[in-house]
Amino acid sequence: MKLPTQLNGASSMRRAEFTAGRYCALNVLSNLRSDSDEVRIGPHGEPVWPDGVVGSITHSGDLAIAAATLVTLHRGLGVDFEHVIKSEAIAEIESIVLTPNEINFCRKCIDFSYTVTLLFSCKESVSKAIFKYVGRYMDFKEIELAAMYNEFALFRPLGPLIVDFQGAVFKVYHRNASGGAMTVCLLDSDT
Ligand SMILES: CC(C)(COP(=O)(O)OP(=O)(O)OC[C@H]1O[C@@H](n2cnc3c(N)ncnc32)[C@H](O)[C@@H]1OP(=O)(O)O)[C@@H](O)C(=O)NCCC(=O)NCCS
Repeated sequence: MKLPTQLNGASSMRRAEFTAGRYCALNVLSNLRSDSDEVRIGPHGEPVWPDGVVGSITHSGDLAIAAATLVTLHRGLGVDFEHVIKSEAIAEIESIVLTPNEINFCRKCIDFSYTVTLLFSCKESVSKAIFKYVGRYMDFKEIELAAMYNEFALFRPLGPLIVDFQGAVFKVYHRNASGGAMTVCLLDSDT
């Protein structure tokens, strides 16, 4: 695979994770029977999928994941994977990422570190799914957990994000796998 010029001078680690992510992305496009086999890099580093497709990429350590769907089915998609956050970093992540209500929720869960990691990953997935519509990185506290179920979680927008997504509910599917939290946010056409 030929690397784009944006990666000239990048570390071998960065080139490897980029290649792994694009490899997954091209497989997904092939499964969707897309005419194009190119996922370019957008001005903010976001993946630019072929017309008619929305998708997302994540990588962490030796893991890379890409997911995509047709815009006729969903208007946005974000995928994320996070290894369970180590105890020494939990307090900092908790204060940056979680609202007071979410901190209370995590404290009531059996596995505090995993639950903080899960909410962090969910918020990254939402951020990726909505990026093309808001054109900026949302603050982590611009969405808040509304409900948690075994297979998915629901988040509602707060603060400035309400302007773009009034009345919206973000649905994020989640799974505990490969030593971390794997999440996928799918934006319905009416979100
Ligand atoms: C850019 C960001 C989305 C990357 O997430 P990450 O967990 O660090 O790394 P991941 O491996 O999960 O994702 C990396 C992939 O995200 C994708 N990505 C990068 N910028 C993106 C954006 N603006 N929108 C959607 N996807 C993006 C890219 O495909 C990238 O892989 P690639 O460069 O190899 O193509 C995120 O870390 C970030 O920087 N956010 C900005 C500020 C922030 O933290 N905001 C709050 C979010 S709730």
